[in-house]
Amino acid sequence: MVKLKDVYPLYLNNKAEQPNTDLAVTDKFTGEVAFRCAQADAATINAGIAGAVEAAEPMARMPAYARRDVLQHCVDRFTERAEELAFALCVEAGKPIKDSEGEVGRLIDTFRIAAEESVRITGEVQPLDISPRAKGYMGMWKRVPIGPCSFISPFNFPLNLAAHKIAPALAVGCSFVMKPASRTPLGALIIGEVLAETDLPRGAFSILPAHRDGADLFTEDERLKLLSFTGSPGVGWDLKAKAGKKKVVLELGGNAACIIDHDADLDDALERVIFGAFYQSGQSCIHAQRIIVHEDVYDLFRDMFVARAKTLIAGDPKDRNVFIGPMITEGEAKRLDGWIQAAVAAGAKLLCGGKRDGAMLEATIIEDVPRDTDAYREEAFGPLAILSKFSDFKAALDEVNDSKFGLQAGIFTRDLFKTLDAWDDLDVGGVVINDVPSFRVDNMPYGGVKDSGLGREGVRFAMEDMTEIRNLVIRRLS
Ligand code: SIN
Repeated sequence: MVKLKDVYPLYLNNKAEQPNTDLAVTDKFTGEVAFRCAQADAATINAGIAGAVEAAEPMARMPAYARRDVLQHCVDRFTERAEELAFALCVEAGKPIKDSEGEVGRLIDTFRIAAEESVRITGEVQPLDISPRAKGYMGMWKRVPIGPCSFISPFNFPLNLAAHKIAPALAVGCSFVMKPASRTPLGALIIGEVLAETDLPRGAFSILPAHRDGADLFTEDERLKLLSFTGSPGVGWDLKAKAGKKKVVLELGGNAACIIDHDADLDDALERVIFGAFYQSGQSCIHAQRIIVHEDVYDLFRDMFVARAKTLIAGDPKDRNVFIGPMITEGEAKRLDGWIQAAVAAGAKLLCGGKRDGAMLEATIIEDVPRDTDAYREEAFGPLAILSKFSDFKAALDEVNDSKFGLQAGIFTRDLFKTLDAWDDLDVGGVVINDVPSFRVDNMPYGGVKDSGLGREGVRFAMEDMTEIRNLVIRRLS
């Protein structure tokens, strides 16, 4: 039986420190305090940034095999501690235990990919003699670490979305400071505990739970060369405006859409859409919020979807049969509950769900939703799916694009030409054929356009952001 500790330290310049126990973290299902951890003040954050600056050069000089060994150590230790990690997620995020185990598997994948990529960083030899003035010149370029990085990670994947910043940084040789989400700091702190077992140069990493206002310190400091933020669009774009000259990567939200065409295998699509709409209570940036179904199969799919959604077991996320756990806070559940009620008042039809008890909100499906409602236009980030009907595929693509967001889209179709049209015409970071927009494997480029963000994660792509290209030009003197 796994047990969490009562108190956890922060990690400052590679070392566990316990200056206080100020941050109380609740079990999201019971609402009780599950553990306490240290919270960094401004001086501590400043010391972490100073340490990261000092570590920048030794990190950049670390040979590839040594960086790979650190990442491989993490893979081994996370594998050994998988049960404890999953339990920690289940408690601090209220994530159903099976989803928590899935996230631990993805954490291990992310670090394994980074271990592999760390020894594959290459450059290019480039002929420069493209015109007479460059006769006798040649060029070559390589990638060098960008320098100390700043990371802010979200509550919904406390391990794997922290990993998508930490692992690429270690793979390229960047030091970093990280502020994990205050409601779910433990995932990142356990990564810190494992990193503290390695001989990374002092200052290579600091993992510092901090008050919300602390985010500005991680954003504005000019010594930091890159800010990578995952979280809500409002906060993300606001931080970018304060980030000064540093490079900024934003992984923000969405109200992802999924098209089900008339030739789709409906039984197969049903199980995937149930997953996409309701896994971890819809608290994912690529949760399938808008389901657009061909008119020929609309009624049949709607009835199947509603019947299946009603079978999902809600309750204590520690119970293996539970599919729907709590939302992160009662306030968030109230917010979405309000959006659902407002949509219904505006003419939408409630097909199932819609009841709330504290932070628990039922799997909810609505149809005929006016497009000017929050439920349709904004990011639900909760267990809500909206059904609509289409007759013309091009109009369905336009409906997917009728959003200020653009992260991923899913299309269930057997038609190659529609696949290619969707790939060409959808204004999103990724198109997933025969699956929901919620599908992600950790080596693929992942990120959005429009309000959904800037840049891409997916280890290799984040590594590119965490490096600069340094060119070398050679003039032959013969
Ligand atoms: C996210 O919610 O931003 C990430 C989703 C995922 O990694 O599956």
